[in-house]
This record gives sequence, structure tokens and C-alpha cells, in this order.
Amino acid sequence: MVDESGIMAFGRYAHIVGWGKAVPNRVVTNHELEQIVDTSDEWIRSRTGIHQRRIAVDPAETTATLAAKAAREALEVADIPASKVDMIIVATSSPEHTFPATACAVQDMIGAVNAGAFDLSAACSGFVYGLGVAKGLIASGQAENVLVIGAETLSRITDWSDRNTCVLFGDGAGAVLVQSSPVPGGILATEMGCDGSGGDLLILPAGGSKMPATLETVASGQHFIKMNGRAVYRFATRIMAEATRRVLSKANLTVDDIDLVIPHQANERIIAVSMRNLKLPEEKVFRNLQYYGNTSTASIPIALYEALEQDRIKPNDTIVMVGFGAGLTWAGTAIKWGVPTEKETSLWRASQRSASYGLAKARSQWLRLSHLLGSNLVTEDGESLAQALSNRLEDWRKQLESDEEEEEQRHDPKQEKPSLPNGTSSSDES
Ligand code: ACO
Repeated sequence: MVDESGIMAFGRYAHIVGWGKAVPNRVVTNHELEQIVDTSDEWIRSRTGIHQRRIAVDPAETTATLAAKAAREALEVADIPASKVDMIIVATSSPEHTFPATACAVQDMIGAVNAGAFDLSAACSGFVYGLGVAKGLIASGQAENVLVIGAETLSRITDWSDRNTCVLFGDGAGAVLVQSSPVPGGILATEMGCDGSGGDLLILPAGGSKMPATLETVASGQHFIKMNGRAVYRFATRIMAEATRRVLSKANLTVDDIDLVIPHQANERIIAVSMRNLKLPEEKVFRNLQYYGNTSTASIPIALYEALEQDRIKPNDTIVMVGFGAGLTWAGTAIKWGVPTEKETSLWRASQRSASYGLAKARSQWLRLSHLLGSNLVTEDGESLAQALSNRLEDWRKQLESDEEEEEQRHDPKQEKPSLPNGTSSSDES
């Protein structure tokens, strides 16, 4: 079988088998924003549909910590240890640093010792771009398990004196575990597009190589999001429907085949106009932007998580996720949902996993020490002491994983991992 990108898939399908979400505790209502800029709850609700957003007020809560929290939950739902992850893709517009990648911090936090990691910069379309990349890695046999995460602390790059932008955005993270499977279905097709001529319409001007940080760039607010809202609105209302049609055509589907659309949660009016263009009934469109605002790359995976929580997705459903963002970029994906949607939680597994994360943290500390000490402190065998300790911690973690598997079999020998339903026919493939 050759998919839309020309890759021979050889019966390797990419299914979402785990999902997680993390949002800061602090809720900021529209009324609170009335206190800091010249706006009103009525204006924000009627022009955007947003009622509140979550903001990471604790400096210790960052894009990476939110991403790692969502990733841990996705692994728990998928029921696989972090050591089985081959690649971590963090789509973000508010990375921790220009480099290193936020994905590397996540790799360290969750102890994904066998994973590669990189950030994906495609603004709000980034999560769906990430699904496209994950599908490619799996179809070409380069990966079995790929974590795709959308994570943001946009509040840190928002100008809180600019009413044109500060009412729109929020913080949060969503993650999925994409896994290889011989069962047809999963990510059927992806559409990834870009119009770079619109780059200036939504931009964080300074801090990169074109406009390095200076006292002037800081004083004039060039390190904050700048947006031409009306131009972005026009682009968004056109491209959301177009990208949906394109991805459906790649997957040999029509609008009538869709069970649920999960659009980028930027603005209620953008969603309404786009879905009207597609002639999609209201009940087939998922919305949660009233609670979170626009969380950029995190908006679609958070919405997916909540759609699953609300039983809006069932095995064999056809799901479309579609978004747009700075770049200007757009992306859509059509998915034949493959796995049971109810979460199974085993107390035993949860405590094993938590111990494993504790060891990953300790290992990380030792490795950091090792980088600092270099080879100053060595064991009798000439190995760096910190490296030797971190190897020992890694051995314990591996032991914990094998104990986990053995214990699980002892407790419940009949229990199997949620298997993909066989009802999906190969005619559903792209
Ligand atoms: N409160 C009160 N008035 C406001 C506010 C506010 N928060 N913001 C703007 N206004 C005013 C404007 O100043 C303008 O006043 P004027 O007519 O006196 O000039 C008036 O409201 C209307 O402004 P418009 O820009 O025409 O308002 P519009 O109806 O287009 O809504 C909005 C603005 C919500 C920004 C809309 O254009 C939009 O959603 N655009 C898309 C933005 C978007 O989705 N960006 C994210 C992209 S994804 C990513 O990559 C992060």
C-alpha cells in the first residue's frame, strides 16, 4: 500500500493509543482582564467565544513541565513505559529556549532513555504537523512509539497591555502516544501547508537572529506576540474548510463520513464560519475554547482529550483535526479511531510508573552532576562516578519495568493490553 506521501506502508498503521492533558490551576476570567485592559466580558464572549483561560502563574510551571505531565498521562493510558518511546515531538510556539529543544527537557523529565527528541515550529498547526511526522516515522519503520505533544505557556510572550491579543491566549498542554500497528486505520492522511508571505501577520519579532535582543527591542515590546487579527481571521475562515476538504480527499472520504471534527480552538466565529462552509452539523463539531482560550499547539490535543472524556469518540469513528496558525500554516488529519476509549487504571501500575519517574529524576540529577564534574571523580574502573551512579539508577529502572511486567502477569494473567478492533476494513485506508 502506498499512502498519500508515497511511502510504502507495508501494513504499518499509526494509531493514537494514549492521550493526556495538563493545564495550570489558575483560571483567569474575562472580568479579571477588564481590570488590566480596556475590554469587557461581553466583547470577548461575543467576538471570540472565550469565557476564561488557564495561566501558568507559578514560574516553576513551564512549557516543558506541562508537556511532561501530559506525556506521562498519555503513556499511562497507552500502558507503555517511557523507555519504549522512540521519538518525542514537542510542537510549541513558546519553547523554553531557542535551544535546547523543549522536547529534550521532556525526554529527561519522563526518563525516555531510548528516545530522540525535537521541537516542531509550525505555530497552532504544529500538533497536527506532528501527527503527520509521527505517521511517516511509523510507516517507514523508523519508530514504533512516538509521543506527539502540543504545549504552551503563551502567557509568557503575551503583552498584557495589548487588548488585541491578551484576551485570546491561554496556557496548557496535550499529548498523544502514536503507536505502530498492523491493524488498518489510525492516521489515514495528513495535509500540511504553508503561505510564508503571511509571516508578518502573526509574529514574535525579536529574540531570533533577525532581530537579536537589545535594550530597545525589550523597551518597545518586540518580544511579545504581534498580530493583524482581521487578516488572520480572513485566512483562517478560508483555510479551515479548504484543509478539511483536502485531507478528506487524500483519505478517499467525504464530509458525510466525518463523525467528529476537532478544529483549532482559536475563535468561536472562525469555527462556526468554517464548519458552515463544510455544511457540518453542530453536533459533529467539538468546542472547548470557552474554558481555555487559544492554547495554540495545545488546543487540538486538549480538545481531543476532552472529546474522549465526554464519549464523543468511539472505535471506528472518523475524526478530522484541523488547524491554522502563524507562518501562515495550516494542517489537517483524518483518523479512523482504532482503540477503546475508556481508560483502564491499575493502582499497581500507577505506583510502579511513579517509582520509575522518581528514578528518572534521580538519574537526571546524577547525569547533570556528571556533566559538571567531567572525569574528576572516577570509580576504580576509570568510569565517571556520577555516570556509574546514573547507570545503576537506569538498571534499577529497567528492573522495575521487568518486575512490572511479571507482577502484572501474576496478578491478572488473562489481562491483555487494549487491542485494536478488527472491525476496521482495509477499504478505510488512504
Ligand atoms: N476589547 C474591546 N475592544 C477590542 C478588543 C478587546 N479585547 N480588541 C480589539 N478591540 C476593538 C478594536 O480596537 C476595534 O476597534 P476600532 O473599530 O475602534 O478600531 C474593534 O474592537 C473591532 O476590532 P476587529 O479587529 O475588527 O475585531 P474582530 O471582530 O475582527 O475581532 C479578533 C478581533 C477576535 C482578534 C479576530 O480578528 C480574530 O479572532 N482574528 C484571528 C486571531 C487568531 O485566531 N489568532 C491566532 C492564530 S493561531 C496562532 O498561531 C497563535
